[in-house]
Amino acid sequence: MAYLLVDNLKIKLRETLFSNRQFSQIYYSLSFSRPVLPHRVGAVYYRTKSSWDLKPHECPCDLEFLEYLHKLHIQNQTIFHFGTGAHHILGLENQKLEYPNEIIGITASTPEHEEYVRLCLEDRSFSKYYKVICADIYNLTAKSLPMLDIVSLFHLCEFYMPEEAKFVHHDDASLLDLFLSKLNPGGKILFYQESVGWGKAKNIVHSFVEQGKIQKIDVYKNLLIYTKTN
Ligand SMILES: C[S@@+](CC[C@H](N)C(=O)[O-])C[C@H]1O[C@@H](n2cnc3c(N)ncnc32)[C@H](O)[C@@H]1O
Repeated sequence: MAYLLVDNLKIKLRETLFSNRQFSQIYYSLSFSRPVLPHRVGAVYYRTKSSWDLKPHECPCDLEFLEYLHKLHIQNQTIFHFGTGAHHILGLENQKLEYPNEIIGITASTPEHEEYVRLCLEDRSFSKYYKVICADIYNLTAKSLPMLDIVSLFHLCEFYMPEEAKFVHHDDASLLDLFLSKLNPGGKILFYQESVGWGKAKNIVHSFVEQGKIQKIDVYKNLLIYTKTN
C-alpha cells in the first residue's frame, strides 16, 4: 500500500513538473539533452536548443528520400525540404551529382543553421545548390517560394502549435495548400508515414484526396508520393 502511495506521488510530481514549461526547460538543461519537439519547452527554447543528428534507425526519412531521388535519377530539379537536421545529408549528397538539384531546405533550429553556415565556410561551393533558410515553415508565403518540382513534407503536423497562431500565416492544412500552389505540373509532394505527426497529417492528406486536390502515385519504403490532380 505504501509503495502504491509513493508511486502515485512520484507520478503526480512528474506530471506537475512536466506540465510546467520552465521545469521542462530546466530538465533539458540539467540532463544536457536536446528537445525533439517544441510543445513542452516552447518555441523559443526549442529553436535555440534543438539539433537533430542523422538517426537512420529512428528516423530514416532523409535517407529514404535520397534513395528515392537516386532510384528515379532525379537531377537538376527544384526541391523543397522541410527539416534539414544538423547533418544536412541531403545537401551533402546532392552536390556529388553530375547535375545537382537546387535544394531549398528549412530548419527552425539555430544550432542546425549554424552547422549549415559552418559547412558553407568550410566548403565554398556548398551553398551553390543547397540553401537553408532558418525560419518557421508556417511563415512561408507564395511570394517567398519559387515554383517547385519536389517537396518533402515529412514533418507535417509534428511541430504546429496553436499558441503560435498569432505569429504565423499557416496551420498544417493551409501549409499543404501553399506547397500545392507552388508545385510545377507533374511535381511530387512526399510524406513520411512513420512521422510522429502522421496520425494527424494523414487526415489532412486524405481530405485533400477526397477534395480531388491530390492523388497518390507512388510509395517508396516509408515515403508516400503524391501529385496534384489536374
Ligand atoms: C526531427 S528533425 C528531422 C530532420 C531530418 N529530416 C531527419 O529526419 O533527419 C525535425 C526537423 O524539422 C525542423 N523544424 C521543426 N519545426 C520547424 C518549423 N516550425 N519550421 C521549419 N522547420 C522546422 C527542425 O529544425 C529539424 O530540422
